[in-house]
Amino acid sequence: MTMTDKNTNIYREIFQGLLPENRLHFEGEALSDNSVDETEGLSFMPRVVAEPVSVEEVSVLVKAANDNKVPVTAAGARTGLSGGALPVHGGLALSMRKMNKIIKIDEKNHQAIVEPGVITEVLQNAVEEKNLFYAVDPSSKGTCTIGGNLAENSGGPRAVKYGVTKDWVLNLQVVLADGQIIETGANTLKNSTGYNLTGLMVGSEGTLGIITRATLKLLPLPRFHALMWVPFKSISDACKTVSEIFQAGAMPSAVELMERDALVMAQDYTGNHDLTLGEEDGAYLLIEVDGFQEAELMPQCERILPVLERNNGGEVLFAQTAAEQEKLWYLRRRIGEAVKAVSIYKEEDTVVPRGYLPELMEVVKRVGREYGFRTVCYGHAGDGNLHINILRDEMSEEVWSEKIPEAIREIFKNVVELGGTLSGEHGIGYVQKEYMDIVLSPHNILIQRGIKKVMDPKNIMNPGKIFPQLPHDEM
Ligand code: LAC
Ligand code: ZN
Repeated sequence: MTMTDKNTNIYREIFQGLLPENRLHFEGEALSDNSVDETEGLSFMPRVVAEPVSVEEVSVLVKAANDNKVPVTAAGARTGLSGGALPVHGGLALSMRKMNKIIKIDEKNHQAIVEPGVITEVLQNAVEEKNLFYAVDPSSKGTCTIGGNLAENSGGPRAVKYGVTKDWVLNLQVVLADGQIIETGANTLKNSTGYNLTGLMVGSEGTLGIITRATLKLLPLPRFHALMWVPFKSISDACKTVSEIFQAGAMPSAVELMERDALVMAQDYTGNHDLTLGEEDGAYLLIEVDGFQEAELMPQCERILPVLERNNGGEVLFAQTAAEQEKLWYLRRRIGEAVKAVSIYKEEDTVVPRGYLPELMEVVKRVGREYGFRTVCYGHAGDGNLHINILRDEMSEEVWSEKIPEAIREIFKNVVELGGTLSGEHGIGYVQKEYMDIVLSPHNILIQRGIKKVMDPKNIMNPGKIFPQLPHDEM
């Protein structure tokens, strides 16, 4: 019998009594809630949902799962876009939402110790009250959790200056597949003591263990921001501008690109039409600089403005007040949801060295033309990280599902030729795994599978993710 055949009674026998009844669900809404994330069009029912509140509870649940070969898929707020939190083989869905304590904000050491269910923005606000800064800033910060960010190695607009989640993690507490609890490192700024298990866990999408506590690095809070919104007639000029900004010696805290369609969708979705778009605008850059003092901002802007002019940027709008700035950021952060509301779509998270952003955009548009897809792009241009949205619009389901894997493969091949890779910040999860061969050599994949085997010999930790399916893969 495979584990997916096990009926509910068997799951009750395995798990009942391990948690109080109100936090252990074998039927009802909890199961359907945990069957989806934000990835388009996918749903997989777990057989049991558990809501642990402590590492001990996680350990007991995972051990029981391992003893009985039940798949375990952890999830936070399920805002992921690669299907990482989907229980694709049923089994146990581990909702980490109730482990949401900020255990300590250590001002003396500029660290925060948190449970995985803390919402990212809640942590940002809590440290801000102490004049500190948690730098990672995914677009879904108001809903996503630190655990999800750790699992997917999330980024966001500020990554261009401050890096992604992995750059802010000092130490993790992890429940391994057999229920053992380990610390991956130490709460120190430096650590050259053995393999970097902390780095290995970040971005491993719940396939190696369950993160139950994280020590995160904080910075002093940069309180001052200048935000520029710049229209471009040519998308290519907007793309070309990006690397020139850095070549001019500026260090912006965000350089975001939006194609016109993306912005229009966000305006329609939010009902905020404050920005007047020029008839011929093709794309926009949203450029932020930050600092500890107001006086730091202008010299940065002065380096950037000539670059914009040289590349045919239109009139620059400076968002002066925090409220005006937030309005622009709000529009930018809603693009993902806005696209979703327009059409069935496929989302890619490609990343190339930033200087090749113009070439990447050309590839996307060419492939779109060849396959008859409308493409809408936006994203973290400063990182060369483009969110490519391919819209189905009126295309028939049959043609769509036949053409889309080919088109994506074609885009990815070109991305790799440009020195880039499949995902910058959304992860491989369930939806990108069949493309891994394009970017990773067979030997690389073999090493990664070997690591998985050592840490999770029974393949219970989020099976069916990251690696291309092999014929002998169980489950
Ligand atoms: C964003 C998400 C989709 O950048 O990553 O809006
Ligand atoms: Zn993004």
